[in-house]
Amino acid sequence: MNYRHAFHAGNFADVAKHLALVTAILHLRKKDKPFFVLDTHGGCGRYDLAADAAQRTGEAEAGIERLRVLAGRQDLPEALAAYLEIVAQEGAGFYPGSPLIAARLLRPQDRLVAIEKHPEDAAALRAALKPFPNAKAEEADGYRRMTALLPPPERRGLVLIDPPYEAPDEFETAAEALTAGWDRFATGIYMLWFPVKSQAAADAFCGEVLAAGITKALRIDIEIGTPPRDAKERLTAAGLMVVNPPYGLDTQMRAAAGLLAGRMGEGTRLSVVWLAGEGR
Ligand SMILES: C[S@@+](CC[C@H](N)C(=O)[O-])C[C@H]1O[C@@H](n2cnc3c(N)ncnc32)[C@H](O)[C@@H]1O
Repeated sequence: MNYRHAFHAGNFADVAKHLALVTAILHLRKKDKPFFVLDTHGGCGRYDLAADAAQRTGEAEAGIERLRVLAGRQDLPEALAAYLEIVAQEGAGFYPGSPLIAARLLRPQDRLVAIEKHPEDAAALRAALKPFPNAKAEEADGYRRMTALLPPPERRGLVLIDPPYEAPDEFETAAEALTAGWDRFATGIYMLWFPVKSQAAADAFCGEVLAAGITKALRIDIEIGTPPRDAKERLTAAGLMVVNPPYGLDTQMRAAAGLLAGRMGEGTRLSVVWLAGEGR
C-alpha cells in the first residue's frame, strides 16, 4: 500500500467528490429519521496542507485553495456554501477528508463508520474523529467491513467507496463491492469514485456497474486542463458514480460547476450525466 491521500488532499477530484458528499448528506438531514454513513476508504480524516506531502504536489493549491475566497458569499448554491463552511472550520492550511466532512454533518441520531487499512492513516483518522461521539474509525479492510455493516439498522444512508486504485484489479473489486452492497441495501445512496485515465475505460467501468441491474445512477465528472505544476503523470480527470442519487444532487452540482470552473482555471469542467433512471 503505497498510496497516501496526503499528497492529493484538497485537489480538484476531492473538491467534486466532497461537494457531492455534502449535498447528499444535507438531503438525508431533511428527514428527522436517523441515517448511517459508511466510508469504506477513509484516509486520514484531516490534512495539513503545509506539510511536505501536500506541498510537494501542489494539488490543493490548484484545488481547494482557489475556492476558499468564495466562502461566506451570499449567492452560492446551498451545498457549495455548506462545503466551504466545513472546510473553513478546519482553519487556513487544513483540509477535512470525507470522514471528517461527514462527521461534521451528523446529528445526534446519525452515525458514521469510517474504515482505513493503512495503520498510520487509521491512527490519524481515529484522532480526527475523536471529538465526534457518533463517528467511529476502524483499522480494517473497507470491502470486508462493508458487507458486515450493510444493511444498517437505520435503513437510510450513504456508502462512499473511494479506493486508491493501486492494484491492477481494483476497478473490478470496487465494482463488485458496490453491487454486493447494493444487493444487501438497495435503497442506500452509493458514491463510487474512480480516476479517469481514458474515457472509454471509464465508460466501460460504469457500464459494468450498471449491468448489475441498478436502475438509478448519476455520473459526475471533473477535469482540469493542465495538472498542477504541469506534472504530466498526474491525474487530470476523475468521476463519481452515484447510485440512488438524492433529489437535487444533479442541480446542486450543475449550479456549482460555473463557479468551480471560474476559480479553478481554464479547462476545468464539471459535468453531470444521468446513466440510468431520472433525467434519461
Ligand atoms: C483516496 S484515499 C481516501 C480519501 C478519503 N475517502 C477522502 O475523500 O478524504 C484511499 C484510502 O484507502 C486506503 N485503503 C487502501 N486499501 C484499503 C482497503 N482495502 N480498505 C480500507 N482502506 C484502504 C488508503 O490507505 C487510502 O488512505
